Amino acid sequence: MEHRFSTIIEPFRIKTVEPLGMTTRDQRLVAIEKANWNVFKLHAEDVLIDLLTDSGTGAMSAAQWAAMMIGDETYACSRSFYKLEKVVRELTGIHHVIPTHQGRAAEHILFSSTCKPGDVVPSNSHFDTTRANVEFLGAEAVDLLYDGAGDPRTDMPFKGDLDVRKLGQLLADRGADVPMVLVTITNNRGGGQPVSLGNLKAVRALCDQFGVPMFLDAARFAENAWLIKMREPGQGHRSAAEISRECFGLCDGFTMSAKKDGLVNIGGLLGVNDSALAERCRTRLILTEGFPTYGGLAGRDLEALAQGLQEVLDEDYLAYRHASVRYVFDRLDQMGVPMMRPPGGHAVYIDAAAFAPQIPAWEYPGVALVNAMYIEGGVRGVEVGTLMFGRPDPDGHHDFTANLELVRLTFPRRTYTQSHMDYLIEVVGAVWKDREKLPGYRITDQRDVLRGFTAALQPIV
Ligand code: F0G
Repeated sequence: MEHRFSTIIEPFRIKTVEPLGMTTRDQRLVAIEKANWNVFKLHAEDVLIDLLTDSGTGAMSAAQWAAMMIGDETYACSRSFYKLEKVVRELTGIHHVIPTHQGRAAEHILFSSTCKPGDVVPSNSHFDTTRANVEFLGAEAVDLLYDGAGDPRTDMPFKGDLDVRKLGQLLADRGADVPMVLVTITNNRGGGQPVSLGNLKAVRALCDQFGVPMFLDAARFAENAWLIKMREPGQGHRSAAEISRECFGLCDGFTMSAKKDGLVNIGGLLGVNDSALAERCRTRLILTEGFPTYGGLAGRDLEALAQGLQEVLDEDYLAYRHASVRYVFDRLDQMGVPMMRPPGGHAVYIDAAAFAPQIPAWEYPGVALVNAMYIEGGVRGVEVGTLMFGRPDPDGHHDFTANLELVRLTFPRRTYTQSHMDYLIEVVGAVWKDREKLPGYRITDQRDVLRGFTAALQPIV
């Protein structure tokens, strides 16, 4: 787009609308209590602005809906698969394209075809399901971020970079046990922080030196490419598509949750260059997902994904997407709200420990903030702290706590407008003003695994 005016607009107009659930504060108090003070259990109609996740929650384009109508539902070797295969090959340069129903299925198939007990999979940072899939196979998932990258206050442009010194050491010590190095772009666990092209090249060089394959967890590949264009010296003149292609060109394969930058509501991909590995993966795919040309998706889903992957690197879209994250970040920053710096690609992460320092980590300051935003304004964010990642102490003391208490406000793609964001900023502002009154919480019921999704809580009054 021509840049004569400074306002970055939503580069689309709205053809289909979906009403929002308008509720009163009293109604929301009833709803959150009924949900055991855990926003995962709120019913959709009770949520006004849903920032729980950017996964599968975006809006599809008219072209995607149109493509769905020509979805070919032939069981084996459908036209829609070959269309998707062509698009993915052009986008990534990776030869074998294997659809899956979502990202974690691609992870499971890849790891179960490559990892054995005792192996170690290094990464900048494994996403939760990725770590769980590695550990399920008896292998170890190791996160190697640079020192300081986990500190919300340090302002580094590429906090997602993998520490190459630590990786070199690990490969020198245990190279024979490393089936692959996995780089997550962008690093969701660490605040949606990007990985630089320079870092990807350095990881590639180490992988070559030790004869280890390099894979990408490419869920947010387009946002990563955009942040490279914006932040990495010498990259500003290149297109996001060119940068993205170079990133994929550095690796031997990838997993992708297509529910993010695939711009679809369901879908995933596994891409590999090694033909023998592709065969092993396809064999497993038949066991759990379906025939290798549909992998758990309908033909219409393959069509929507093929189209989404062609739309996501549009620079007006990427500029708008990043501007909406930046817009919220800058305004909350002006109010003094403590956040993970700088803003990443898909979310704003509030530092709940600094927001409500009166609440100790074992009384879940992130939950306090999430619930207050819901009660005040109907906004749903998600706690990424001790409720999600901590665990109870078997001796009955307070929980083993997480290293950060964050609240993620995640932006669905092409879904909300600037006035929704203005409203969100007002809601956070109101909670910020009364932050000293926020109560801590205690858990009244929890499961051993992934307790954040199901735990019942109660405010401490
Ligand atoms: N990798 C990354 C980096 C992710 O963020 C996710 C999902 C996955 C893999 C798994 O993909 O959900 O399609 O099976 N992240 C979602 C989130 C759930 O809310 O951040 P999936």
